Amino acid sequence: MPRKKTEINPEEIIKEEPKPAETQAPEQAAEKPAAEKKPAARKLRAKKAAPAEEKAAPAEPVAEKKPAARKPRAKKAAPAEEKAAPAEEKAAPAEPVAEKKPAARKPRAKKAAPAEEAAPVVEAAPVVEAAPVVEAAPVEEAAPVEEAAPVEEAAPVVELPQPRRSVAFIGSECYPFVKTGGLGDVMYALPRALAKLNCDVKVILPRYRCIPQKWQEKMVYRGSFMMDLCSDGRSFYVGIMEYVWDGVVYDFIDNDEFFSYGNPYTNLIDDIPRFCYFGKAALAALNYLEWVPDVIHCHDWQAGLVPVMLRTFFADTPLRDTKSVLTIHNLRFQGIYNIPTVKYWTNLPDHVFNKDVMTQNWVDANMLKGGLTYCDRITTVSNTYAGEIQTEFYGDGLDAHLRFHSGKLRGIVNGIDVEQWDSRSDKLLPFPYGTDDVFDQKRANKLALQEQLGLEQNADKMVLGLISRLTDQKGLDLVNAILPALIDGNTQVVILGTGDARYEDSFRWYENNYKGSVCSYIAYDEALAHRIYAGSDALLVPSLFEPCGLTQLIAMRYGTVPVVRETGGLKDTVQPYNQFTNEGNGFTFDRYDAGLLLDAVNRAKTLYFTNRWRWDEMVRRNMQKDVSWENSARQYRALYLELKP
Ligand code: ADP
Ligand code: GLC
Repeated sequence: MPRKKTEINPEEIIKEEPKPAETQAPEQAAEKPAAEKKPAARKLRAKKAAPAEEKAAPAEPVAEKKPAARKPRAKKAAPAEEKAAPAEEKAAPAEPVAEKKPAARKPRAKKAAPAEEAAPVVEAAPVVEAAPVVEAAPVEEAAPVEEAAPVEEAAPVVELPQPRRSVAFIGSECYPFVKTGGLGDVMYALPRALAKLNCDVKVILPRYRCIPQKWQEKMVYRGSFMMDLCSDGRSFYVGIMEYVWDGVVYDFIDNDEFFSYGNPYTNLIDDIPRFCYFGKAALAALNYLEWVPDVIHCHDWQAGLVPVMLRTFFADTPLRDTKSVLTIHNLRFQGIYNIPTVKYWTNLPDHVFNKDVMTQNWVDANMLKGGLTYCDRITTVSNTYAGEIQTEFYGDGLDAHLRFHSGKLRGIVNGIDVEQWDSRSDKLLPFPYGTDDVFDQKRANKLALQEQLGLEQNADKMVLGLISRLTDQKGLDLVNAILPALIDGNTQVVILGTGDARYEDSFRWYENNYKGSVCSYIAYDEALAHRIYAGSDALLVPSLFEPCGLTQLIAMRYGTVPVVRETGGLKDTVQPYNQFTNEGNGFTFDRYDAGLLLDAVNRAKTLYFTNRWRWDEMVRRNMQKDVSWENSARQYRALYLELKP
């Protein structure tokens, strides 16, 4: 993964050349049509650009500028472009960045407009807009006939929990637009679950170039403005492209200078400026759209500056009363960089570069730490991990800081979207199944998987799956150590993943040496992941640390028994099998030790080969276990209400 700590000085930034698109989601990149190509990514190197800066309004005033911003919703795409021009003119007449956009965007706006738009207007409008938009002349016109019908249909909505709350999610990835791991799943599933609990949810994301064209085409232009960013007054274009889907509004922050890379993450040299920009642009976009949520829910370091900026730059804007929640999905990645660079790219006041706020080790700025300091609540994705990160081993340098802020920290375990992960209706499976036909169909899926991957086709073999980013977080050193011991003539191993070369290479080596018994598929492949969940008997998740982990949840849902290390969310979601009471969902081990992993796998094998009846009971039990978002989404909602009663 590219999210690594590096230390450089600002001069290096200027010299660095753009990185090529990387491998994470190759199929997505491939979907990008040639016509979509934009000018080669311009470097973010500041220095030369100077001239136009001074004029650009600061974030707050910018937000106040767009009088007509809301009306376009009704009128839709066509007028939108016309508005863009005036907005840009006001803000920064000569800025080249702004001028280049319209041409590329126009056609998209027109295409996307008709169907999707109708829904959004209805859904997004009620709560948030109703209040401020007292002006609403249009309401009078629209009132008579149209209003009556929807109100009747809306009757069942009365059952929704009250009161309605509005939440803006800010994060760096979201399935199906862009996903490199579990964060993408959460950013997709949690907003949908919250929408069902009477929350008005907007998800703010970067508009990366790697978002497949089919989604890009659905986006509708909502407006644009120039935003001050850097300490030398340099300002940047912020475009807002919107897509409304199943009750959730997705707003994509558009800026080719920052988001034209093939991948969401490249290296910190580029990622730091990119997410300094993104955090501020997301807040400025809310003001621009005149959408004042009750709560802003930020995710990981990429949105870490949002709570800081909310209480500094945006303290005197309409967002002044909005509360913020910051969720840690993975404490390993914090957005750490030297102070001068972060100062340059944010222009934040000196006092936030204090050691108790954002500074770490006296010399670095830590974007996640800043967010943890300023937010109103910190959550992480399991209860156990919430405790672990307050210890030195799991705290990644922030344990003391987290202990200090433990009063506002809590763990809420992730769920999965059970419609997206439903073995009965999964179109990616050759043989979909439910609890009634699971055993026959899983055998059929196993045979299909073995055939597809060049393994010996034999449904009696036990197939162990592993689906993961290939990093040391995932306990792959343990797997490497015991892999030969797993291959006993009755067992096969299927690995799907991409990441660190040392793991890719060693797994390839095993495939070569255990042909027919081991398959290492080094790629990111959503469809194959589904087939492995369905075609395996057990799934290995022996992580060194695991904030929550979703693969074990998906596995259980698909009747595949997890073998996990007792850490983080793995500990909270997989109850160890007890052969005496016949309870539990999987096989577990505690210390990070290859021998213990082997022991856990051997316990699984023993049950599988010698007491299939009990094994099958566990499979059924797991498929019926509630791993949905429902319960956890309620906890998030309760948290929002705590902040905004
Ligand atoms: P993390 O976020 O740390 O990567 P999670 O278990 O929370 O781990 O989420 C991983 C998600 O990414 C799951 O949806 C899993 O199916 C998916 N995934 C991981 N690696 C791959 C891959 N190589 N191909 C397809 N999906 C993958
Ligand atoms: C992170 C964690 C993973 C968690 C996911 C979603 O990537 O590594 O454990 O499930 O975020 O919260």
